[in-house]
Amino acid sequence: MPSKRTVPITAGAAATSPVAGGALLGRGADHEAAAQALWSPRPPMPGRELHWLVHQASLAANSHNAQPWRFRSQGAGLLIAPDFNRRLPVADPDDHHLYVSLGCAAENLRLAATALGRSATLDFAGADGVRVLLGSGAGPTEPLFEAIAERQCTRSDYDGRGLQAAQRELLLEAACIEGCELLLVEDRARMEQVLELVLEANTRQVSNPAFAAELKHWIRFNAAAAIESGDGLYAASSGNPSLPTWLGRRLFDWVFKPAAENRRYARQLRSSAGLALFTADVDSPDGWARVGQAYQRFALQATALGLRHAHVNQPLEVAALRPQLASLLGLGTRRPDLLLRYGFAPPMPRSLRRPVEAVLDA
Ligand SMILES: Cc1cc2nc3c(=O)[nH]c(=O)nc-3n(C[C@H](O)[C@H](O)[C@H](O)COP(=O)(O)O)c2cc1C
Repeated sequence: MPSKRTVPITAGAAATSPVAGGALLGRGADHEAAAQALWSPRPPMPGRELHWLVHQASLAANSHNAQPWRFRSQGAGLLIAPDFNRRLPVADPDDHHLYVSLGCAAENLRLAATALGRSATLDFAGADGVRVLLGSGAGPTEPLFEAIAERQCTRSDYDGRGLQAAQRELLLEAACIEGCELLLVEDRARMEQVLELVLEANTRQVSNPAFAAELKHWIRFNAAAAIESGDGLYAASSGNPSLPTWLGRRLFDWVFKPAAENRRYARQLRSSAGLALFTADVDSPDGWARVGQAYQRFALQATALGLRHAHVNQPLEVAALRPQLASLLGLGTRRPDLLLRYGFAPPMPRSLRRPVEAVLDA
């Protein structure tokens, strides 16, 4: 869509973020309270629109919850730039997931701008990230905005129910972004073939000490650790018990083994209604960020329909297995960018985020 007239926005005075509020939450603070404070819908305060927009953007999905982004006011909009200090050299050596994550944040920001009565256009700026150009005179708030505060990645068993045709159509429509494609796979035999690749790739990743070490670095084994960092993978969000960090780290070495992990992934995938595979027209930061935009819209539409989703990216993270996945799903030479399962399940504990002040450049 062509960009409308652009107008600047104001940052307003700094304020304490709910997650940053250690004093507010107290010592050993309760994760649920922190999550509630972070995720509760809140109206923007006058003069603090930029802060509010960045908050909405940072609620987006992102790899390992590393939040690899910096937000910078730039002319009549914002640049969402990569934060290479938060890259994942083992799981994501070419920064593919990092740029997908920037696209996810950009779409949340774009939707939030419509709630402020602004038009917003995404400008994919290659290795620099994604620019969100803000204008005035937008129409009504886009409906997907309402799902931002509810969306989550749900890493649990689903209930096996399938989708209705109308739900499938809405997912495809929501994810229809120029420069990428979404394929839904619900045929059980085909899903089993994909599962085989997921398990093969998972075995390779779990057996790789560098992969395990990187993952362990990002796991927050208890509420206090998750609240203190405001990032990372909270153990309870994956259905794991809360443990002191020292014990969690030891037990991780003990239990993170291919057989157990594969059993879990097989059960979870078989309990799902289908698989969603995203591919971009171009294999570059622009293409990856576009996939992020499409995926975030898919996730928000799924949320609005009462559907859950989780990632099963193993066969595209293990580069050697990508061609097999591509050929199985008839992708030709296109790179498989993201692989998700979807279905119905109750929500899981939420993940946290760092405060806006930690990601917004003055
Ligand atoms: C590019 C990308 C790759 C991801 N890969 C995985 C993955 O392989 N396994 C997984 O469980 N979650 C994966 N996630 C989900 C993130 O871990 C999740 O978004 C993050 O922890 C924040 O949690 P939330 O989405 O529930 O807010 C991925 C997300 C993105 C954007």
